[in-house]
Amino acid sequence: MASEALSSITLASLPAVSQGKVRDLFSLPDGPTPRLLFVTSDRISAYDVILKNGIPSKGTILTLLSAKWFEVLSSRVPGLKHHFIHLGPPSGTVTPDEEQMLRGRSMTVRRLKIFPIEAIVRGYITGSAWSEYQKTQTIHGLPQPAGLAHCQQLPRPIYTPSTKAELGDKDINISPDEAKAIVGEKYAARIEQLALACYNAGAAYAAEHGIIIADTKFEFGLDEETDEVYLVDEVLTPDSSRFWSKADYEVGREQDSFDKQVLRNWLTENGLKGKPDVEMPPAVAEKTKARYTEVFERLAGVSLEEALKNVAN
Ligand SMILES: Nc1ncnc2c1ncn2[C@@H]1O[C@H](COP(=O)(O)OP(=O)(O)OP(=O)(O)O)[C@@H](O)[C@H]1O
Ligand SMILES: [Mg+2]
Repeated sequence: MASEALSSITLASLPAVSQGKVRDLFSLPDGPTPRLLFVTSDRISAYDVILKNGIPSKGTILTLLSAKWFEVLSSRVPGLKHHFIHLGPPSGTVTPDEEQMLRGRSMTVRRLKIFPIEAIVRGYITGSAWSEYQKTQTIHGLPQPAGLAHCQQLPRPIYTPSTKAELGDKDINISPDEAKAIVGEKYAARIEQLALACYNAGAAYAAEHGIIIADTKFEFGLDEETDEVYLVDEVLTPDSSRFWSKADYEVGREQDSFDKQVLRNWLTENGLKGKPDVEMPPAVAEKTKARYTEVFERLAGVSLEEALKNVAN
């Protein structure tokens, strides 16, 4: 497996459509439906800033974990439509060298019109929701019961959307009513229903694997031809979710999560939070990679090497 991080991706064979903090999107020749090649780099961002160096294999972990979730959620959420078509590019669209570089870190997806909100679902109270609750006993403006402790499970999972900021801006927490005003009542209701169903199904699957999904962020897109709402983007990865170990969970304190916590701690301790052009030391990258790999292996039930071996060439 590659020991170098792949931070930038260029394909001579396909035109680039856009670049996000972590992913590069490429246009594909028209098939029966409009498609995109969705490529996940090893770039990592923390506090909304991309680090100079990446985490080797991170793009593979996020891609193969999302692919696993599309399979799990398809079988557990009735009527769910999602953008995943298959891993890798369609045959004959890239060169053999490019195919090798993309192996395990790319997927062919249905190209959709993305709703400009982030469909966050919270099963437990932590992070910005905990800060808000302590001040006003609300989460994203929604009243909550008194007496909740830090990281306590909520009486039921709640849908707490945010705006989807342009590159460089910060997402803002909003109420479900504000989300309605952004995407319209009809789509807002469908997004909320699907986000909660995906969270519930995902949380049940994760629990079977010893993992708590404290909260997560989904994105949805619209097929304008059929007017159907699709689950898009990455799904239930350590970049988009807070995963905790069920065995170590204790209410009333901060939990150790399987994500960028090691990196965030290092940035804060060194006064580098939010600063551009920061290079993380190898030990921080290694520890972060180990956390991502561990949660992948627990959720997918196979080692990363094994999962990569199973990716058809
Ligand atoms: N099926 C799809 N069709 C079109 N665009 C998509 C589809 N699925 C996801 N996207 C978009 O692709 C982009 C993925 O890139 P990436 O995740 O790097 O962006 P980002 O959201 O800026 O970063 P971050 O997730 O770290 O906030 C997002 O803008 C997402 O909305
Ligand atoms: Mg994203």
